[in-house]
Amino acid sequence: MMPEDMRRDLPITQQYIYLDNAATTPVPSPIIDAMIEYFEEYCANIERGAYSIAARASDICDAAREEVAKRLLHCDVEEFIFTRNQTQAANFVAYSLEHPFLNRWKTGFKFAPPLVKWTPESKIVSTLLEHHSNFMPWIRLAKHVGAQFQTITPTIEGRLTPEMFAEVIDEDTKFVAFQHASNAMGTKHDIAAIIRVIKSANPQCLVFIDGAQGAGHMPVDMKAYGCDFYSISGHKGPLGPPGTGGLYAREELIQRMAPAEVGGGTIASVTDNDYMLRSDHRARRWDAGTPNIIGLIGLGAAIKYLNKIGVQNVANQEHVLTKHLLDGIRDIPNLLIYGPKEDLTWKVGAICFNIQGWLSHDVSLALDSQWKILTRAGHHCCQPFMKFLDVLSTYQGNVRASFHYFNLIEEVDTLIQALKTLAA
Ligand SMILES: Cc1ncc(COP(=O)(O)O)c(C=O)c1O
Repeated sequence: MMPEDMRRDLPITQQYIYLDNAATTPVPSPIIDAMIEYFEEYCANIERGAYSIAARASDICDAAREEVAKRLLHCDVEEFIFTRNQTQAANFVAYSLEHPFLNRWKTGFKFAPPLVKWTPESKIVSTLLEHHSNFMPWIRLAKHVGAQFQTITPTIEGRLTPEMFAEVIDEDTKFVAFQHASNAMGTKHDIAAIIRVIKSANPQCLVFIDGAQGAGHMPVDMKAYGCDFYSISGHKGPLGPPGTGGLYAREELIQRMAPAEVGGGTIASVTDNDYMLRSDHRARRWDAGTPNIIGLIGLGAAIKYLNKIGVQNVANQEHVLTKHLLDGIRDIPNLLIYGPKEDLTWKVGAICFNIQGWLSHDVSLALDSQWKILTRAGHHCCQPFMKFLDVLSTYQGNVRASFHYFNLIEEVDTLIQALKTLAA
């Protein structure tokens, strides 16, 4: 499938130059069709019904989970928890690090040993580059469990290196959370090398990766990274509908993680004063109540669609577009570019910039009103890093153009011309 083929499935591309894929990606029509089919042909709750369309809905949802686990993340289906978004995935992990797992065992209803034994010396480490969704849950967790919260400062270009982690990880570091790629700087990080450094400094330390800007934009592989958790936004790179996301949790951990919610769908049995959570499918312990069936169906269809494109082809196309944009704007006077500009080894398809004398929101509004170019402006939910970049008071953040497979060189050319006009 070529980018032009994908555009035929995205009517929005006929009206706009859509460059806000780091926030959410428009949903191609075959994925919408799959969701409409559910409403029109087999609209029933899953797991509980004996009649044929309920069985069909259950089978399609099961297949969707397999699709995401096996073909997007390369993990076992019982290691994939379906969530509302990346943010919920992080909060689920924070909950399970704070609350020991409660269940009925052979001898009665009791708590399992906690995932982490917190002490006042315990450290939770994150970085200043994180999205608030991969930052606030850990600040709160540290307060709740009485641990210290420590941050790593990236380079001014938005890079995180193994050496930075080697300096801070020690035997007191119980948990580290950082990103695969940055929505605010368009950098990606060598997460496998960083995880190796963390685990060699402290094999007990748990590692959480925010993959919101990773999965769907580049090939990812849970087992190759050696992480304990990896969270995704289904509605960004993977092309699923809004309201979808997921969490990979390593098998040995998922068995001992306390689900944040309990109720229908999560149990093997319930008595008048205790319950036993289901163990036939551990990840479904997180599906309390009716799950987002339509989202699951959409996400499953999206991964099939993404695999038709080939996720490496997505990465290649984004690289070509990024290089073309940077080559075209590097020398524009009054234009400030954030993140790597020359060596694109650690760059992904998100480019941030400002025009001197303009607020970032005004640039974004002008691009929309004059050229129908849709970009995002502001702090990108990364206030600590925007403060470090010193762009909050002068520009109220920066402007971001972000790509997916369907974007074209011609669209980038229009953006280059528009920026030359605005910066003149
Ligand atoms: C790096 C990063 N992490 C987390 C999030 C939050 O994702 P979601 O909105 O799916 O919860 C985003 C969203 O932009 C992001 O870019």
